[in-house]
Amino acid sequence: MCGITAYIGPRNAYPIVINGLKRLEYRGYDSAGIMLFDGQGLQLSKTKGKVSDLEEITNNDEKRKNGNIGIGHTRWATHGVPNDTNSHPHVSNSGELVIVHNGIIENYDTIKKELIKRGYTFKSDTDTEVLVNLIQEVKKNEGCKLGKAVQLALNSVIGAYAIAVFDKAKPDELIVARLGSPIAIGIGENNSEFFIASDASPFVEYTKNAVYLEDEELAIIKLGREVRVRRIHNDELIKASVQKLQLSLEEIEKGGYDHFMLKEIHEQPKAITDTFRGRLLVEQNFIKLLGIDSYREKFLNANRVIIVACGTSWHAGLVGEYLLEDMARIPVEVEYASEFRYRNPVITENDVIIAISQSGETADTLAAIKLAKERGAFVYGICNVVGSSIARETHTGTYTHAGPEIGVASTKAFTTQITVLTLMALKLGREKGTIPEKEFVKYLNAMDRIPQQVEKLLEIDEHVKYIASVYKDATNCLYLGRGFNFPVALEGALKLKEISYIHAEGYPAAEMKHGPIALIDENMPTFVIATKHGHYEKVVSNIQEIKSRSGKIIAIVTEGDITVKEIADHCIEIPETEEALTPLLTTIPLQLLSYHIAVMLGKNVDQPRNLAKSVTVE
Ligand code: G6P
Repeated sequence: MCGITAYIGPRNAYPIVINGLKRLEYRGYDSAGIMLFDGQGLQLSKTKGKVSDLEEITNNDEKRKNGNIGIGHTRWATHGVPNDTNSHPHVSNSGELVIVHNGIIENYDTIKKELIKRGYTFKSDTDTEVLVNLIQEVKKNEGCKLGKAVQLALNSVIGAYAIAVFDKAKPDELIVARLGSPIAIGIGENNSEFFIASDASPFVEYTKNAVYLEDEELAIIKLGREVRVRRIHNDELIKASVQKLQLSLEEIEKGGYDHFMLKEIHEQPKAITDTFRGRLLVEQNFIKLLGIDSYREKFLNANRVIIVACGTSWHAGLVGEYLLEDMARIPVEVEYASEFRYRNPVITENDVIIAISQSGETADTLAAIKLAKERGAFVYGICNVVGSSIARETHTGTYTHAGPEIGVASTKAFTTQITVLTLMALKLGREKGTIPEKEFVKYLNAMDRIPQQVEKLLEIDEHVKYIASVYKDATNCLYLGRGFNFPVALEGALKLKEISYIHAEGYPAAEMKHGPIALIDENMPTFVIATKHGHYEKVVSNIQEIKSRSGKIIAIVTEGDITVKEIADHCIEIPETEEALTPLLTTIPLQLLSYHIAVMLGKNVDQPRNLAKSVTVE
């Protein structure tokens, strides 16, 4: 959580840092701050609220916008409520050192007490202000340079961090370090300027050369010199590897849409096509997944698969369970990473762990992977962000290639995760001989049609908008689905909760009788996924049960359905496909529905309250 960005070089740092913070707001947006240094003094501006609130403070004050060195922060509060004082950057007692921090220092209280004994005072309630003063104290006591002081201080903290530190006395230098939270360093020509950020999006228009720090690494960034990277605990010098960024500016802008979420919903046909690229080879009747090809035996000999993930990615994992068990006949368990990591799970060398994460930075998922590796399991990652911590921590895996997802509510990441899981299940099913050849061919062709079908489905937007206008004032909603579409019901409910703040619950349709049916009355809309497959008749009976209790039904049905149309209040049609592939289609109208309800209620769709896109703290 929290976004950090910094600039050092010949340009004015203000617009670079402010625009960078706007791109990082998906990581947190309850307060924002910037520090600029103009060669004379520090200009510190910070406020509760969004980066746009910060701009209001600085806009009419040229002094606050001057300087070639800038450090900025957009916050998701952990220690201390969101207010002006707790906002970053934080300055040390000496007024010399400035820090921005993403993460949590768990032993900050003990350190704070010790520093107070030594005469330090604190303005904020944050762990970060403790860290910057600890660095000051170490620097003073050891008489060392800033880089060394940061390294020594970090060796005595417990927790997670990505930090950038500036020292007024060394205005051509910045120190950055990471443990558990990401840091990218953009490198200008001949090391004439440097950009620092939680991901590469803030500097993509300035440079394509970047160094990503690994955990436990500290970098000394000095103008005119190559970046020097050291291991924090043993001081080992590491060769910084410069990578070429693939990201383009267009990908991280709204491209004419009102919100990133809407843009990302509409990007799904392309995103799914990109996930297929080079993998779904219909003509050759083959699925190519290098991650599986290189570790074929691991998969074929696996006793079971354990999927670990959080949030929407966990819902994708549930779809994965249905797919892998059905097609590849491998037992699958799906675990919340946050539970798995602490419950002393049984893990063996014959288990395959699949970690799913859009950001590749979710702290719980990362910790679950580390635990599984320690216990000898083979770990496969499904990530969207290339080069992310989870992508690097896993033995191998598959990128979804959905492109940057900026809206906090996940959309294209979900459908592309399901796309990868479907490819995996089909491939393994074929290799294991659990899918007959004819079926395999049928699936390949059906998969190939999905992007066009999603494209067509997006044309129902106006109809979904109308339905949204009818139900936008509901206070509770129920989402029902069965089989492959049970996880879609969970995801539909989550989408509504996240961005419209309407209470919603997802349930397996048949379980409704064991509780939620008590909630049904004329004010309670139920969204039911009732495509014409396996459990169709049973779901129709559930719909009837709801109708006979005066509940309102909005059903997602297969094109041409007549039965449900006669009973439901509203129907949304999806094109015909194989049952196992329906989640890729049924999800779309539920995403649009949540989007429109949230817009109609005047909510901040891309930055819903209290949430963050990337949860890098526990
Ligand atoms: C946060 C986001 C969700 C996301 C979840 C897991 O809660 O708001 O959209 O599903 O984290 O994130 P990951 O990046 O691991 O998929």
